[in-house]
Amino acid sequence: MKKSEKLVARRNAIVPNGMGMFSPLTVTAAKGARLIDVDGRSYIDFAGGIGVLNAGHCPKPVVDAIIRQSRQLIHACFPVAIYEPYVALCEKLASVFPHGKSTKVMLTSTGAEAIENAVKIARQATGRPGIICFSGAFHGRTLLGMTLTSKTGYKVGCGPFAPEIYRIPFPDFYKRHDGLTKEDFIDREIRAFKDFFQHTADPNQIAAVLIEIVQGEGGFNVVPEAYLKAIQSICKQFGILLIIDEVQTGFGRTGKWASYEHFGVVPDISTWAKSMGSGMPIGAVIGKAEVMDRTNKGTLGGTYPGNPVACAASLATINYMEEIDICSKGEKVGKSVTNFFRKLKREISAIGDVRGLGAMVAFELVKNQDPNQPDGDLAKALIEKCSKRGLLIISAGIHGNVIRVLSPLVISRKELMQGLNIIREELLALTHEKPKVKRKGAK
Ligand SMILES: Cc1ncc(COP(=O)(O)O)c(C=O)c1O
Repeated sequence: MKKSEKLVARRNAIVPNGMGMFSPLTVTAAKGARLIDVDGRSYIDFAGGIGVLNAGHCPKPVVDAIIRQSRQLIHACFPVAIYEPYVALCEKLASVFPHGKSTKVMLTSTGAEAIENAVKIARQATGRPGIICFSGAFHGRTLLGMTLTSKTGYKVGCGPFAPEIYRIPFPDFYKRHDGLTKEDFIDREIRAFKDFFQHTADPNQIAAVLIEIVQGEGGFNVVPEAYLKAIQSICKQFGILLIIDEVQTGFGRTGKWASYEHFGVVPDISTWAKSMGSGMPIGAVIGKAEVMDRTNKGTLGGTYPGNPVACAASLATINYMEEIDICSKGEKVGKSVTNFFRKLKREISAIGDVRGLGAMVAFELVKNQDPNQPDGDLAKALIEKCSKRGLLIISAGIHGNVIRVLSPLVISRKELMQGLNIIREELLALTHEKPKVKRKGAK
Protein backbone atom coordinates (compact mmCIF):
# COMPACT_ATOMS: atom_id res chain seq x y z
CA MET A 1 0.00 0.00 0.00
CA LYS A 2 1.32 3.43 -0.93
CA LYS A 3 1.86 6.00 1.82
CA SER A 4 -0.89 8.21 0.34
CA GLU A 5 -3.39 5.34 0.36
CA LYS A 6 -2.54 4.68 4.00
CA LEU A 7 -3.05 8.36 4.86
CA VAL A 8 -6.42 8.45 3.07
CA ALA A 9 -7.50 5.31 4.98
CA ARG A 10 -6.44 6.88 8.31
CA ARG A 11 -8.29 10.08 7.37
CA ASN A 12 -11.46 8.17 6.55
CA ALA A 13 -11.30 6.26 9.83
CA ILE A 14 -11.01 9.37 12.04
CA VAL A 15 -12.55 12.37 10.19
CA PRO A 16 -16.38 12.55 10.01
CA ASN A 17 -18.24 11.83 6.78
CA GLY A 18 -19.49 15.37 6.35
CA MET A 19 -15.98 16.74 5.70
CA GLY A 20 -15.71 17.65 2.02
CA MET A 21 -13.03 15.98 -0.14
CA PHE A 22 -12.35 17.60 -3.51
CA SER A 23 -9.68 15.01 -4.34
CA PRO A 24 -7.88 12.13 -2.57
CA LEU A 25 -4.53 13.84 -3.15
CA THR A 26 -2.19 14.03 -0.14
CA VAL A 27 0.42 16.71 0.43
CA THR A 28 3.48 17.01 2.58
CA ALA A 29 5.29 20.03 1.10
CA ALA A 30 4.77 22.74 -1.49
CA LYS A 31 6.68 25.54 -3.20
CA GLY A 32 5.61 28.06 -5.84
CA ALA A 33 2.95 26.26 -7.89
CA ARG A 34 4.05 22.71 -7.03
CA LEU A 35 2.79 20.24 -4.43
CA ILE A 36 4.59 17.11 -3.27
CA ASP A 37 2.48 14.22 -1.98
CA VAL A 38 3.49 11.82 0.80
CA ASP A 39 4.92 9.39 -1.77
CA GLY A 40 7.17 12.11 -3.19
CA ARG A 41 5.11 12.66 -6.37
CA SER A 42 5.04 16.20 -7.72
CA TYR A 43 1.81 17.93 -8.86
CA ILE A 44 1.11 21.20 -10.64
CA ASP A 45 -1.32 23.11 -8.46
CA PHE A 46 -4.32 24.62 -10.28
CA ALA A 47 -6.36 24.85 -7.05
CA GLY A 48 -4.13 27.04 -4.86
CA GLY A 49 -5.86 25.75 -1.72
CA ILE A 50 -9.07 27.27 -3.24
CA GLY A 51 -7.66 30.63 -4.22
CA VAL A 52 -5.44 31.17 -1.17
CA LEU A 53 -2.05 31.04 -2.82
CA ASN A 54 -1.94 33.93 -5.29
CA ALA A 55 1.61 34.65 -4.07
CA GLY A 56 2.53 30.97 -4.30
CA HIS A 57 3.25 28.27 -1.76
CA CYS A 58 5.61 29.28 1.06
CA PRO A 59 7.02 32.55 -0.37
CA LYS A 60 10.32 33.25 1.41
CA PRO A 61 9.49 36.73 2.77
CA VAL A 62 6.27 35.34 4.29
CA VAL A 63 8.02 32.33 5.84
CA ASP A 64 10.69 34.66 7.28
CA ALA A 65 8.05 37.01 8.71
CA ILE A 66 6.23 34.09 10.35
CA ILE A 67 9.45 32.86 11.97
CA ARG A 68 10.41 36.37 13.14
CA GLN A 69 7.00 37.13 14.60
CA SER A 70 6.55 33.75 16.29
CA ARG A 71 9.86 34.24 18.12
CA GLN A 72 8.57 37.55 19.50
CA LEU A 73 4.81 37.21 20.15
CA ILE A 74 2.38 34.47 19.10
CA HIS A 75 -0.75 35.57 20.89
CA ALA A 76 -2.17 38.35 23.03
CA CYS A 77 -5.86 38.71 21.96
CA PHE A 78 -6.31 42.15 20.41
CA PRO A 79 -9.17 43.29 22.71
CA VAL A 80 -6.95 42.37 25.70
CA ALA A 81 -3.63 43.94 24.61
CA ILE A 82 -2.96 46.06 21.52
CA TYR A 83 -0.07 44.97 19.31
CA GLU A 84 1.47 46.77 16.36
CA PRO A 85 1.16 44.12 13.57
CA TYR A 86 -2.67 44.28 13.85
CA VAL A 87 -2.71 48.07 13.55
CA ALA A 88 -0.08 48.09 10.80
CA LEU A 89 -2.05 45.54 8.74
CA CYS A 90 -5.28 47.56 9.10
CA GLU A 91 -3.42 50.70 7.98
CA LYS A 92 -1.96 48.85 5.00
CA LEU A 93 -5.34 47.44 3.96
CA ALA A 94 -6.96 50.89 4.21
CA SER A 95 -4.25 52.33 1.97
CA VAL A 96 -4.57 49.56 -0.65
CA PHE A 97 -8.39 49.45 -0.50
CA PRO A 98 -9.70 52.93 0.36
CA HIS A 99 -13.48 53.01 0.84
CA GLY A 100 -14.25 56.68 0.25
CA LYS A 101 -12.80 59.58 2.26
CA SER A 102 -12.06 57.66 5.44
CA THR A 103 -11.69 53.90 5.84
CA LYS A 104 -11.72 51.61 8.88
CA VAL A 105 -10.68 47.98 9.11
CA MET A 106 -11.19 45.04 11.48
CA LEU A 107 -9.50 41.66 11.23
CA THR A 108 -10.91 38.15 11.37
CA SER A 109 -9.48 34.64 11.10
CA THR A 110 -11.55 33.42 8.13
CA GLY A 111 -13.70 34.56 5.22
CA ALA A 112 -16.91 33.31 6.86
CA GLU A 113 -16.08 35.30 9.98
CA ALA A 114 -15.51 38.40 7.83
CA ILE A 115 -18.99 37.86 6.33
CA GLU A 116 -20.57 37.40 9.77
CA ASN A 117 -19.02 40.65 10.95
CA ALA A 118 -19.92 42.56 7.79
CA VAL A 119 -23.56 41.60 8.40
CA LYS A 120 -23.35 42.58 12.09
CA ILE A 121 -21.88 45.95 11.10
CA ALA A 122 -24.46 46.58 8.35
CA ARG A 123 -27.33 45.77 10.71
CA GLN A 124 -26.01 48.05 13.46
CA ALA A 125 -25.24 50.87 11.02
CA THR A 126 -28.70 50.83 9.42
CA GLY A 127 -30.84 49.53 12.28
CA ARG A 128 -32.42 47.11 9.76
CA PRO A 129 -32.42 43.29 9.73
CA GLY A 130 -32.69 42.18 6.07
CA ILE A 131 -29.82 41.01 3.87
CA ILE A 132 -30.21 40.32 0.14
CA CYS A 133 -27.95 37.65 -1.37
CA PHE A 134 -27.93 35.75 -4.67
CA SER A 135 -28.48 32.33 -6.18
CA GLY A 136 -25.10 30.67 -6.73
CA ALA A 137 -23.53 32.65 -3.87
CA PHE A 138 -21.01 31.17 -1.47
CA HIS A 139 -20.19 33.01 1.74
CA GLY A 140 -18.86 30.35 4.12
CA ARG A 141 -19.67 27.46 6.40
CA THR A 142 -20.80 29.10 9.65
CA LEU A 143 -24.54 29.02 10.23
CA LEU A 144 -25.06 32.55 8.84
CA GLY A 145 -22.48 31.90 6.09
CA MET A 146 -24.36 28.74 5.13
CA THR A 147 -27.67 30.59 5.20
CA LEU A 148 -26.22 33.13 2.76
CA THR A 149 -24.73 30.34 0.63
CA SER A 150 -26.88 29.06 -2.20
CA LYS A 151 -25.84 25.46 -2.95
CA THR A 152 -28.19 23.22 -0.98
CA GLY A 153 -25.67 20.35 -1.12
CA TYR A 154 -23.51 22.32 1.33
CA LYS A 155 -26.26 22.58 3.93
CA VAL A 156 -28.40 19.43 3.87
CA GLY A 157 -29.86 18.83 7.34
CA CYS A 158 -28.04 21.80 8.90
CA GLY A 159 -31.03 24.10 9.45
CA PRO A 160 -32.92 25.90 10.80
CA PHE A 161 -31.08 28.72 9.11
CA ALA A 162 -30.74 32.37 10.10
CA PRO A 163 -33.78 34.62 9.54
CA GLU A 164 -34.05 37.79 7.41
CA ILE A 165 -31.93 36.47 4.53
CA TYR A 166 -33.49 37.02 1.09
CA ARG A 167 -32.15 35.41 -2.09
CA ILE A 168 -32.69 36.71 -5.59
CA PRO A 169 -31.53 35.17 -8.90
CA PHE A 170 -27.96 36.09 -9.91
CA PRO A 171 -27.88 37.74 -13.36
CA ASP A 172 -26.40 34.67 -15.01
CA PHE A 173 -26.61 35.49 -18.73
CA TYR A 174 -25.32 32.11 -19.93
CA LYS A 175 -28.06 30.11 -18.23
CA ARG A 176 -30.93 32.55 -18.01
CA HIS A 177 -30.78 34.78 -21.10
CA ASP A 178 -33.98 33.32 -22.62
CA GLY A 179 -32.93 34.54 -26.05
CA LEU A 180 -32.56 38.19 -24.94
CA THR A 181 -29.68 40.43 -25.93
CA LYS A 182 -27.27 41.13 -23.08
CA GLU A 183 -28.67 44.65 -22.73
CA ASP A 184 -32.30 43.50 -22.56
CA PHE A 185 -31.33 40.74 -20.17
CA ILE A 186 -29.68 43.20 -17.79
CA ASP A 187 -32.71 45.50 -17.97
CA ARG A 188 -34.98 42.58 -17.12
CA GLU A 189 -32.79 41.61 -14.14
CA ILE A 190 -32.70 45.19 -12.82
CA ARG A 191 -36.51 45.35 -13.08
CA ALA A 192 -36.72 42.05 -11.20
CA PHE A 193 -34.45 43.45 -8.48
CA LYS A 194 -36.71 46.49 -8.08
CA ASP A 195 -39.83 44.30 -8.07
CA PHE A 196 -38.42 42.41 -5.08
CA PHE A 197 -39.23 45.48 -2.98
CA GLN A 198 -42.87 45.22 -4.06
CA HIS A 199 -43.47 41.50 -3.63
CA THR A 200 -41.09 40.34 -0.89
CA ALA A 201 -39.59 42.94 1.44
CA ASP A 202 -39.86 46.67 2.03
CA PRO A 203 -36.54 48.40 1.21
CA ASN A 204 -36.62 50.10 4.62
CA GLN A 205 -36.22 46.65 6.18
CA ILE A 206 -33.07 45.85 4.18
CA ALA A 207 -29.64 46.55 5.72
CA ALA A 208 -27.45 45.38 2.85
CA VAL A 209 -27.04 43.69 -0.50
CA LEU A 210 -24.21 41.14 -0.43
CA ILE A 211 -22.63 40.15 -3.73
CA GLU A 212 -19.53 38.54 -5.26
CA ILE A 213 -18.33 40.29 -8.46
CA VAL A 214 -17.23 36.86 -9.69
CA GLN A 215 -19.04 34.03 -7.94
CA GLY A 216 -16.30 31.65 -6.78
CA GLU A 217 -17.95 28.42 -5.68
CA GLY A 218 -20.97 29.33 -7.84
CA GLY A 219 -18.95 28.74 -11.02
CA PHE A 220 -17.07 31.96 -11.87
CA ASN A 221 -20.20 33.82 -12.97
CA VAL A 222 -19.29 37.47 -13.50
CA VAL A 223 -21.82 40.12 -12.54
CA PRO A 224 -22.57 42.44 -15.49
CA GLU A 225 -21.14 45.91 -14.85
CA ALA A 226 -24.38 47.73 -15.68
CA TYR A 227 -26.30 45.51 -13.26
CA LEU A 228 -23.85 46.14 -10.40
CA LYS A 229 -23.96 49.88 -10.99
CA ALA A 230 -27.76 49.87 -11.06
CA ILE A 231 -27.88 47.86 -7.81
CA GLN A 232 -25.52 50.32 -6.17
CA SER A 233 -27.65 53.26 -7.20
CA ILE A 234 -30.84 51.54 -5.94
CA CYS A 235 -29.03 50.81 -2.66
CA LYS A 236 -28.10 54.50 -2.31
CA GLN A 237 -31.67 55.56 -3.01
CA PHE A 238 -33.01 53.44 -0.11
CA GLY A 239 -30.11 53.77 2.36
CA ILE A 240 -29.13 50.13 1.82
CA LEU A 241 -25.43 49.25 2.13
CA LEU A 242 -23.51 47.43 -0.60
CA ILE A 243 -21.24 44.66 0.69
CA ILE A 244 -18.85 43.14 -1.84
CA ASP A 245 -17.36 39.76 -0.93
CA GLU A 246 -13.75 39.76 -2.19
CA VAL A 247 -12.71 36.63 -0.29
CA GLN A 248 -11.94 34.64 -3.47
CA THR A 249 -11.54 37.49 -5.97
CA GLY A 250 -9.11 39.71 -4.04
CA PHE A 251 -5.37 40.30 -4.06
CA GLY A 252 -4.56 40.20 -7.77
CA ARG A 253 -6.68 37.18 -8.71
CA THR A 254 -8.68 39.13 -11.27
CA GLY A 255 -5.70 41.24 -12.37
CA LYS A 256 -6.56 44.00 -9.88
CA TRP A 257 -6.19 44.23 -6.11
CA ALA A 258 -9.99 44.25 -5.79
CA SER A 259 -12.38 42.90 -8.41
CA TYR A 260 -14.70 45.91 -7.90
CA GLU A 261 -11.95 48.12 -9.37
CA HIS A 262 -12.81 46.67 -12.80
CA PHE A 263 -16.16 48.45 -12.65
CA GLY A 264 -15.16 51.65 -10.82
CA VAL A 265 -17.51 50.75 -7.97
CA VAL A 266 -16.52 51.25 -4.32
CA PRO A 267 -18.65 49.31 -1.83
CA ASP A 268 -19.69 50.51 1.63
CA ILE A 269 -18.21 47.36 3.15
CA SER A 270 -16.00 44.60 1.71
CA THR A 271 -14.86 41.23 3.04
CA TRP A 272 -11.43 39.61 2.53
CA ALA A 273 -9.47 36.47 3.41
CA LYS A 274 -7.79 33.66 1.44
CA SER A 275 -4.76 35.07 -0.43
CA MET A 276 -4.21 37.93 2.01
CA GLY A 277 -2.17 35.66 4.31
CA SER A 278 -0.67 33.07 1.93
CA GLY A 279 -2.43 30.36 3.93
CA MET A 280 -2.26 31.77 7.46
CA PRO A 281 -5.76 32.20 8.94
CA ILE A 282 -6.50 35.87 8.40
CA GLY A 283 -9.40 37.87 6.99
CA ALA A 284 -10.70 41.42 7.13
CA VAL A 285 -13.74 43.63 6.96
CA ILE A 286 -13.00 46.97 5.33
CA GLY A 287 -15.54 49.76 5.20
CA LYS A 288 -16.39 53.42 5.10
CA ALA A 289 -15.47 54.86 8.52
CA GLU A 290 -18.93 56.37 9.00
CA VAL A 291 -20.47 52.90 8.55
CA MET A 292 -17.85 50.93 10.50
CA ASP A 293 -18.04 53.31 13.46
CA ARG A 294 -21.80 53.00 13.82
CA THR A 295 -21.19 49.85 15.88
CA ASN A 296 -21.60 49.39 19.60
CA LYS A 297 -18.54 48.75 21.82
CA GLY A 298 -17.99 45.06 22.43
CA THR A 299 -20.03 43.80 19.47
CA LEU A 300 -16.88 43.02 17.45
CA GLY A 301 -13.91 40.95 18.60
CA GLY A 302 -12.84 37.40 19.42
CA THR A 303 -9.88 35.52 20.86
CA TYR A 304 -7.84 34.78 17.73
CA PRO A 305 -8.85 37.22 14.96
CA GLY A 306 -5.87 39.24 13.76
CA ASN A 307 -3.40 36.95 15.52
CA PRO A 308 0.10 38.55 15.49
CA VAL A 309 1.73 35.76 13.42
CA ALA A 310 -1.11 35.83 10.87
CA CYS A 311 -0.84 39.64 10.69
CA ALA A 312 2.91 39.45 10.08
CA ALA A 313 2.31 36.86 7.34
CA SER A 314 -0.32 39.06 5.73
CA LEU A 315 1.81 42.21 5.81
CA ALA A 316 4.72 40.28 4.28
CA THR A 317 2.35 38.79 1.66
CA ILE A 318 0.99 42.19 0.60
CA ASN A 319 4.48 43.75 0.46
CA TYR A 320 5.73 40.80 -1.58
CA MET A 321 2.72 41.07 -3.91
CA GLU A 322 3.54 44.75 -4.47
CA GLU A 323 7.17 43.91 -5.13
CA ILE A 324 6.39 41.26 -7.77
CA ASP A 325 3.42 43.23 -9.19
CA ILE A 326 0.83 40.55 -8.50
CA CYS A 327 -1.85 42.29 -10.60
CA SER A 328 0.16 42.13 -13.81
CA LYS A 329 0.86 38.45 -13.08
CA GLY A 330 -2.88 37.89 -12.62
CA GLU A 331 -3.60 39.63 -15.90
CA LYS A 332 -0.97 37.58 -17.74
CA VAL A 333 -2.03 34.20 -16.33
CA GLY A 334 -5.66 35.15 -17.03
CA LYS A 335 -4.95 35.95 -20.69
CA SER A 336 -3.11 32.66 -21.26
CA VAL A 337 -5.81 30.54 -19.61
CA THR A 338 -8.67 32.40 -21.31
CA ASN A 339 -7.08 32.07 -24.77
CA PHE A 340 -6.40 28.39 -24.19
CA PHE A 341 -9.93 27.63 -22.98
CA ARG A 342 -11.54 29.63 -25.82
CA LYS A 343 -9.63 27.54 -28.35
CA LEU A 344 -10.55 24.39 -26.44
CA LYS A 345 -14.23 25.32 -26.64
CA ARG A 346 -13.91 25.23 -30.44
CA GLU A 347 -12.60 21.65 -30.21
CA ILE A 348 -14.86 20.20 -27.54
CA SER A 349 -18.62 20.52 -27.82
CA ALA A 350 -19.12 19.57 -24.14
CA ILE A 351 -17.69 22.99 -23.21
CA GLY A 352 -20.75 25.21 -23.12
CA ASP A 353 -19.16 28.39 -21.83
CA VAL A 354 -15.77 29.91 -21.03
CA ARG A 355 -15.85 32.83 -18.61
CA GLY A 356 -14.14 34.70 -15.83
CA LEU A 357 -12.26 37.85 -14.95
CA GLY A 358 -8.45 38.08 -14.98
CA ALA A 359 -6.96 34.83 -13.73
CA MET A 360 -10.27 33.59 -12.37
CA VAL A 361 -11.15 31.53 -15.44
CA ALA A 362 -13.42 28.51 -15.86
CA PHE A 363 -15.27 26.44 -18.42
CA GLU A 364 -18.66 24.86 -17.98
CA LEU A 365 -19.33 21.26 -19.07
CA VAL A 366 -22.81 20.51 -20.43
CA LYS A 367 -24.64 17.82 -22.38
CA ASN A 368 -26.04 18.50 -25.85
CA GLN A 369 -24.67 22.07 -25.76
CA ASP A 370 -27.55 22.95 -23.45
CA PRO A 371 -26.71 25.33 -20.55
CA ASN A 372 -29.43 23.62 -18.55
CA GLN A 373 -28.00 20.11 -18.89
CA PRO A 374 -24.94 20.27 -16.60
CA ASP A 375 -22.41 17.43 -16.91
CA GLY A 376 -21.00 17.04 -13.41
CA ASP A 377 -19.92 13.45 -14.12
CA LEU A 378 -17.64 14.57 -16.93
CA ALA A 379 -16.07 17.22 -14.65
CA LYS A 380 -15.49 14.58 -11.97
CA ALA A 381 -13.91 12.17 -14.47
CA LEU A 382 -11.68 14.95 -15.83
CA ILE A 383 -10.45 15.88 -12.33
CA GLU A 384 -9.55 12.25 -11.62
CA LYS A 385 -7.73 11.83 -14.94
CA CYS A 386 -5.79 15.08 -14.39
CA SER A 387 -4.81 13.98 -10.90
CA LYS A 388 -3.33 10.77 -12.35
CA ARG A 389 -1.29 12.95 -14.75
CA GLY A 390 0.08 15.12 -11.94
CA LEU A 391 -2.32 18.08 -12.11
CA LEU A 392 -4.50 19.17 -9.20
CA ILE A 393 -7.64 20.90 -10.42
CA ILE A 394 -11.03 21.47 -8.80
CA SER A 395 -14.60 22.07 -9.91
CA ALA A 396 -17.19 24.69 -8.98
CA GLY A 397 -20.84 25.43 -9.66
CA ILE A 398 -24.12 24.34 -8.15
CA HIS A 399 -23.88 21.12 -10.21
CA GLY A 400 -20.11 20.67 -9.89
CA ASN A 401 -19.80 20.91 -13.69
CA VAL A 402 -17.50 23.95 -13.90
CA ILE A 403 -13.74 23.43 -14.14
CA ARG A 404 -11.96 26.41 -12.60
CA VAL A 405 -8.35 27.53 -12.49
CA LEU A 406 -7.09 29.13 -9.26
CA SER A 407 -3.39 28.41 -9.69
CA PRO A 408 -0.80 30.47 -7.85
CA LEU A 409 -0.19 33.60 -9.94
CA VAL A 410 3.57 33.06 -9.66
CA ILE A 411 3.23 29.89 -11.74
CA SER A 412 5.81 29.63 -14.54
CA ARG A 413 4.62 29.79 -18.16
CA LYS A 414 5.96 26.24 -18.63
CA GLU A 415 4.00 24.79 -15.69
CA LEU A 416 0.87 26.68 -16.72
CA MET A 417 0.96 25.38 -20.31
CA GLN A 418 1.83 21.88 -19.09
CA GLY A 419 -1.24 21.89 -16.84
CA LEU A 420 -3.52 23.31 -19.55
CA ASN A 421 -2.33 20.71 -22.07
CA ILE A 422 -3.09 17.91 -19.58
CA ILE A 423 -6.66 19.25 -19.29
CA ARG A 424 -6.99 19.36 -23.08
CA GLU A 425 -5.60 15.88 -23.69
CA GLU A 426 -7.72 14.26 -20.99
CA LEU A 427 -10.88 16.07 -22.06
CA LEU A 428 -10.33 15.09 -25.70
CA ALA A 429 -9.89 11.47 -24.59
CA LEU A 430 -12.97 11.50 -22.35
CA THR A 431 -15.22 13.08 -24.98
CA HIS A 432 -13.73 11.08 -27.88
CA GLU A 433 -13.33 14.29 -29.85
CA LYS A 434 -10.56 14.64 -32.41
CA PRO A 435 -8.06 17.49 -31.94
CA LYS A 436 -9.00 20.37 -34.24
CA VAL A 437 -6.63 23.12 -33.17
CA LYS A 438 -2.87 22.78 -33.51
CA ARG A 439 -1.18 23.49 -30.16
CA LYS A 440 2.41 24.25 -29.36
CA GLY A 441 3.84 21.72 -26.90
CA ALA A 442 0.74 19.46 -27.00
CA LYS A 443 1.03 15.75 -27.65
C1 LIG B 1 -16.57 34.34 -1.83
C2 LIG B 1 -16.31 33.61 -0.56
N1 LIG B 1 -16.76 34.12 0.60
C3 LIG B 1 -16.53 33.52 1.78
C4 LIG B 1 -15.85 32.32 1.84
C5 LIG B 1 -15.60 31.66 3.17
O1 LIG B 1 -14.26 31.77 3.51
P1 LIG B 1 -13.62 30.77 4.60
O2 LIG B 1 -13.60 29.42 4.00
O3 LIG B 1 -12.26 31.34 4.86
O4 LIG B 1 -14.49 30.85 5.80
C6 LIG B 1 -15.37 31.74 0.67
C7 LIG B 1 -14.64 30.46 0.70
O5 LIG B 1 -14.48 29.77 -0.27
C8 LIG B 1 -15.60 32.41 -0.57
O6 LIG B 1 -15.17 31.90 -1.73
